[in-house]
Amino acid sequence: MAGRLAGCGKAYLPATCGEEKPALKGRTGAAIDRAKSNSPNKQEVIMASERTFSIIKPDATKRNLTGAINQKIEAAGLRIVGQKRIKMSQSQAEGFYGVHKERPFFKSLVAFMTSGPVVVQVLQGDNAVLKYREVMGATDPAKANVGTIRKEFAESIEANSVHGSDSPENAKIEIEFFFKPEEIVD
Ligand code: CMP
Repeated sequence: MAGRLAGCGKAYLPATCGEEKPALKGRTGAAIDRAKSNSPNKQEVIMASERTFSIIKPDATKRNLTGAINQKIEAAGLRIVGQKRIKMSQSQAEGFYGVHKERPFFKSLVAFMTSGPVVVQVLQGDNAVLKYREVMGATDPAKANVGTIRKEFAESIEANSVHGSDSPENAKIEIEFFFKPEEIVD
């Protein structure tokens, strides 16, 4: 499982959804699906409700930024349907970031992620994976857009305040890594 976590997404498959819209029932495919309306010339964009996984990292929890970050999440229309403050163990951090184990920053990243409390979250809403990536901004805060979490709060490319899943498929894996089904309430 470790090799598939945290930023290793290839496919873009639907996540576990909350309530599925009738028009999307039984569909698989992209998060934004186009479906024909009754009029033959009109197309309607249907936004799929999905879930993504988020971590508020130790650099942010130590500066009391959980509330400010949650404000940005909720202002973007995402609902926090699961949340807990934990201290990540060495093996959890190594497993979660297993995809990066050959990278030069891996050891430092694991040390950073276990250096203090983190807040793990499940976010739900239309197009949640892509929406949260927009709200977070680029991994490197120097490249992040104005108004994003990382532009406003991140300290460095490593201490970048938040993590968010890169695909619905990985969101499902990452959520299951930290949450039992009964800990998620929508
Ligand atoms: P995250 O989105 O959690 O996914 C992997 C993490 O590794 C990333 O955020 C950063 O915290 C960290 N990271 C990515 N690239 C670098 C880098 N070049 N140097 C140090 N840390 C990095």
